[in-house]
Amino acid sequence: MEGIAIMTSGGDAAGMNPAVKCAVDYSRKKGLKPFLIRNGLRGMIDGDISEATREDVSGIMHRGGTVLRSSRSQRFFEYDYRKQAYDNLQKLGINKLIVIGGDGSFNALNQFYSDFGVPFAGIPATIDNDIPGTDYCLGVDTALNMIRQSVDSIRDTATSFSRAFVIETMGRHCGYLAMVSALSSGAEICLVPEVEYDLEKIGERLRSDLNDGRDYIIAMVAEGTNMAEYLTRWIKINLNMDARLTVLGHVQRGGSPTVRDRIMAYKFAVEAVDALLDGETNKIMIFRDGDFGRLAIDKVTDSKVELNQQIIKLAEHLSH
Ligand code: F6P
Repeated sequence: MEGIAIMTSGGDAAGMNPAVKCAVDYSRKKGLKPFLIRNGLRGMIDGDISEATREDVSGIMHRGGTVLRSSRSQRFFEYDYRKQAYDNLQKLGINKLIVIGGDGSFNALNQFYSDFGVPFAGIPATIDNDIPGTDYCLGVDTALNMIRQSVDSIRDTATSFSRAFVIETMGRHCGYLAMVSALSSGAEICLVPEVEYDLEKIGERLRSDLNDGRDYIIAMVAEGTNMAEYLTRWIKINLNMDARLTVLGHVQRGGSPTVRDRIMAYKFAVEAVDALLDGETNKIMIFRDGDFGRLAIDKVTDSKVELNQQIIKLAEHLSH
């Protein structure tokens, strides 16, 4: 029986556990012998690998984070450590890999493929939704729902005190979380790195709204703009309002995966196992324009991610 190993790597994201479970169950159904690599690339080097048991993947569907744990390994950049990882896989008869993570992990596995020819399939998982080629990465829907819940709570204080709240979302250099959250929470301001903003115009618009009876403001700001503190001060001075900053931080990354993340995880996992059985070597599973597909790794790593134009159109008026 051919061995297939499943690992999670990079920042954790809700949906990783359902993807692990589905990859194990489906590869077994397809006649493969599933293994689990714990602690990401570090575990591959250190031989933290075992055959997947039913208990390993039972009761994990609803859990956030990754039960396999994750790591960012510097050692994997060195050939000797990659060779050690390869020897570990060889000993166990593993000749296929599924990596659930981000583009950094995909690049590492691509280097591993160049060195030793072990085929891999990548499943995109990051709350940032910033992997080129795919409209969706696991974890995004859960993160958006966590943000929605937080903004709903913050709004209670904003309305009770006639305050402005600036809420900073994660996303690294990508404004997706901030922009979709601004739309879904009816925010008055949204600043993201991908859209030019004009504070003068925002000021004029909001001063007119305040004169017209508006008494609180919600501003969603992507961490990639580095503008959250500045905007909070700016609102105090220019709109003469009591303003507070909430940095949501890691609450956005945790939590039980939503139905969407569980179903997407299932579909990505099936696609990944099928891709490897079809003889694909280094492909990333993607979801684009409503369809699942496979994209060559270089198409993913050599491209720049672009924020969805339809979402920009819907939300850009919040930037000026
Ligand atoms: O990539 C996911 C992410 O949560 C980003 O949104 C954020 O900038 C970063 O990771 C935080 O990294 P760490 O958990 O290492 O602080």
